Amino acid sequence: MKRAKISVIGAGNVGATAALWAAAAELGDVVLLDIPEAGDMPKGKALDMAQAGPIMKYDARLTGTSDYADTAGSDVVIVTAGIPRKPGMSRDDLLATNAKIISAVGEQIAKTSPDAVVIVVSNPLDAMAQRMLQVTGFPKERVVGQAGVLDTARFAAFIAMELGVSVEDVTAMLLGGHGDTMVPLASCSSVGGIPVSQLIAKERLDEIVARTRTGGGEIVKLLQRGSAYYAPSAAAVQMAEAVIKDKRRLIPCAAYCESEYGVGGYYVGVPVILGDGGVRKIIELRLTDEEQAMFNNSVDAVKGLVSTMATLV
Ligand code: NAI
Ligand code: 2OP
Repeated sequence: MKRAKISVIGAGNVGATAALWAAAAELGDVVLLDIPEAGDMPKGKALDMAQAGPIMKYDARLTGTSDYADTAGSDVVIVTAGIPRKPGMSRDDLLATNAKIISAVGEQIAKTSPDAVVIVVSNPLDAMAQRMLQVTGFPKERVVGQAGVLDTARFAAFIAMELGVSVEDVTAMLLGGHGDTMVPLASCSSVGGIPVSQLIAKERLDEIVARTRTGGGEIVKLLQRGSAYYAPSAAAVQMAEAVIKDKRRLIPCAAYCESEYGVGGYYVGVPVILGDGGVRKIIELRLTDEEQAMFNNSVDAVKGLVSTMATLV
């Protein structure tokens, strides 16, 4: 059977950790790329990961490079190139710098891996996914953003901590942009099949929802340098696995919504079926009036960023 090829663009915290998760899961051959100014750093990281293989018992071919020729013909490209935020910064403060980086990266991907599914991770996520779609000219199904898997994992982790239960029994759902306006959906979240609202009092659940919304900022503050990377990289690799193995996972991703949810041509977090070829279907939920209002607010925040981006690039 042909081995899949996964390229990770940006060999920093999220990118290198994604390469490690992908190799450890034996998803296929993994190529880790950074800019020439990074020197042999991607080569060093790839070699180090290859040497962990005999210990952790994974069999993966890892390549570190700054040459897009090595990424040619990738099945999946995970894009983590860009600057992360510093304490006090919002994801939106990264817009101008990262839009330029995504434009440069997207042009290279379109040339070297024209059939790939691109999973965008760089922030501000929804705007960067939009930019990637514009630059590559790929069909909308093949450009998808990672945010919802991370944000629901945060929501699920907090619910599990609150109840003292296994994270394996928690299922959570969330909509909206990857910002503090995101909409964790308590109505679609459950523990062992029991709606979470039957297990946690409303006021406490509201606190957990608020902590989820600001979950990225909580980590930035604690780290003092850079932003989260273990959970974000695991999330991107879960999406890559869904595509490579055509798992048809029903998970929240940033997908290009046109008529769906009345969004009108923007990336925003929605439940999708993710499998071979990328986003196979966007699932439209019936929202309560309160949820719809919060979703609209989140979409408006994304639209604002996309129009600012249009004036910058
Ligand atoms: P980092 O600073 O550790 O790594 C970024 C890497 O990108 C650096 O090695 C840098 O040299 C490289 N890079 C810059 N320009 C490039 C280019 N043109 N081509 C290839 N590589 C290039 O940052 P980290 O922590 O890995 O975060 C990366 C991005 O992911 C940030 O924008 C961050 O905000 C975002 N992020 C998004 C999350 C999400 O849920 N969507 C979660 C966590 C981070
Ligand atoms: C996060 O949510 C920084 O977007 C990143 O941790």
